Amino acid sequence: MINVDAFAGKTALITGGTGFIGSNLAIKLIELGAKVTIVDAMLPGYGGNLFNLEPIKDRVTLNFADIRDFHALNYLVKDQDYIFHLAGQVDHVLSLTDPFPDIDINIKGTATLMEACKIHNRAAKVIHTGTRGQYGPATKLPVSEDAPTHPRGIYEISNLTAEKIMQIYHDIHGVQCVLLRLTNIYGERHQMQHPRYGVVNWFVRQVVDGQPIRVFGDGKILRDFLYIQDCVDAILMCAQTDAAYGEVINIGVDAPTDFIELAETMIRAAGTGSWEFAPFSPERKAQEPGDFYSDISKIRQLAGWQPTTLLEDGLRKTIEYYRQHKQHYW
Ligand SMILES: NC(=O)c1ccc[n+]([C@@H]2O[C@H](COP(=O)([O-])OP(=O)(O)OC[C@H]3O[C@@H](n4cnc5c(N)ncnc54)[C@H](O)[C@@H]3O)[C@@H](O)[C@H]2O)c1
Repeated sequence: MINVDAFAGKTALITGGTGFIGSNLAIKLIELGAKVTIVDAMLPGYGGNLFNLEPIKDRVTLNFADIRDFHALNYLVKDQDYIFHLAGQVDHVLSLTDPFPDIDINIKGTATLMEACKIHNRAAKVIHTGTRGQYGPATKLPVSEDAPTHPRGIYEISNLTAEKIMQIYHDIHGVQCVLLRLTNIYGERHQMQHPRYGVVNWFVRQVVDGQPIRVFGDGKILRDFLYIQDCVDAILMCAQTDAAYGEVINIGVDAPTDFIELAETMIRAAGTGSWEFAPFSPERKAQEPGDFYSDISKIRQLAGWQPTTLLEDGLRKTIEYYRQHKQHYW
């Protein structure tokens, strides 16, 4: 369970807080009584959307700055109890053609944030949301934290590097960090403009638009899909757990689903729709790591978290949200 005392009256900075995960986290933190500041550069093509903050718009402090701006971060990290580091280059497809935004935002941006913490706030607790992609192809399923890391893309490499930079600041400079590796997250407040990242939400858009869901390849690849509210709980339960600091921790679902099952569950949740096979683009096929699902025994044991939302229920809530608010996302 989330311990309200860990967050009530505490200060929290969220980098990338107008985006998908960051905005849902901000809403929950404010519900818990935290004072939340968001720093976001609203870069085009990513998930930053002010409508995401509608439920808390009068209770959140918004700062439009870039995490690569050392001066801005020097100011923003001061007096923060928690720093949730979610700003990032997240476009997997872009990273196939241009490696530099990943290197610049995910590596340099993370180093900038950690350097600011080292100088101005060593007492902050910093939480990083890395990706399951840091593992690359699974050597054994489910994938646990001690599995080898052979990432298959620059996005994934830059996240692994960011994680290692944070580990150094934890070990050497005493800035406490939790190093999370998230599976595919879906749900309310994800960008719906393009399919370059966030495949489950893109399926939601196809269903809401009355288009057939396009399932790549043979649809048999296994994944674990986690609902955003479960993900937010997992992040907060790690943040409140002293023993989580200094640790790499998976956030996912230990029951896998293939893409055909995902499409069929989505159609059931929507009460309408159809699906069809579509070919992978050659680049996507080359980057595709194959079957993956997370071993979550570590987070269960350390933080007492496990997912509670069934896929069909999470999808139903997501579809309802976009049916109601689609003018803010399409
Ligand atoms: N959504 C997922 O399934 C998933 C899975 C694994 C890891 N992650 C990680 O979680 C984090 C959040 O992802 P999301 O899905 O919420 O993405 P998102 O695109 O919705 O949010 C990212 C936010 O970061 C902001 N941003 C980007 N570059 C910035 C910069 N230089 N300075 C300040 N702000 C900047 C964007 O404007 C956006 O609001 C990312 O680091 C991502 O790699 C997400």
